[in-house]
Amino acid sequence: MTNTPTTHDPNLPQYKLIFLGDQSVGKTCILNRYVNDEFTENYQATIGLDFQSKNVKIGDQEVNILFYDTAGQEKFRSLIPLYTRDAKIILLVYDITCKDSFVHLSDWLHELTNVNKEEVILALVGNKNDLKENRQVTVEEGQKFAEENNFIFQEISAKENDGFTDLFNNKIFEEIRTKFKPEGHLPKSEGNDIVLNSEDKNGKAKKKCGC
Ligand code: GTP
Ligand code: MG
Repeated sequence: MTNTPTTHDPNLPQYKLIFLGDQSVGKTCILNRYVNDEFTENYQATIGLDFQSKNVKIGDQEVNILFYDTAGQEKFRSLIPLYTRDAKIILLVYDITCKDSFVHLSDWLHELTNVNKEEVILALVGNKNDLKENRQVTVEEGQKFAEENNFIFQEISAKENDGFTDLFNNKIFEEIRTKFKPEGHLPKSEGNDIVLNSEDKNGKAKKKCGC
């Protein structure tokens, strides 16, 4: 990683969320849907790492989520331990229309052997559930894997914007609230939003690096 977010309001709790999973399962699309409410059919492989951030409300507390969007390509796999360091939320994504991406979850678990599971929120996400006619992984299979490995589970569609409220608001943010207690932080001071290299008018910072 060559470019790192440098400054953010220290009074605003910040949680690093990392996307992991095979190439083309939809990690970047999930992020773009969630942060920018955009979706594209064109596949452009992530090279190295992208990141974006978004301020969200958890209860009455505003917090900043810093999203690390990793590349699924095998050649970038050696960087994963570096990226998972300090992550508070790990989103492991598979494609419900691609059995291989589900079978490979065990390889991804292996990448997490050095992660202290007590200190992080783990979520398993089955993406592309708009393509039910091409389904190769059942909901039950996803649920079973999640239960066995202590992951939150949610099927979603980045394309149809389905399942996002359940995944983020109802499950991940609820877990942040109970596990990390963000309301214990100092209150946010006026006018100090997160600052990365560039920021759009909605206060969403966006940055990209290739390494
Ligand atoms: P890497 O960056 O190579 O690791 O891939 P990725 O996991 O980031 O996949 P990406 O988000 O680039 O999406 C791959 C392809 O899947 C693109 O053509 C997307 O349009 C498509 N896609 C992503 N999410 C969905 C979805 O929910 N439904 C459907 N039908 N297609 C999707
Ligand atoms: Mg990507």
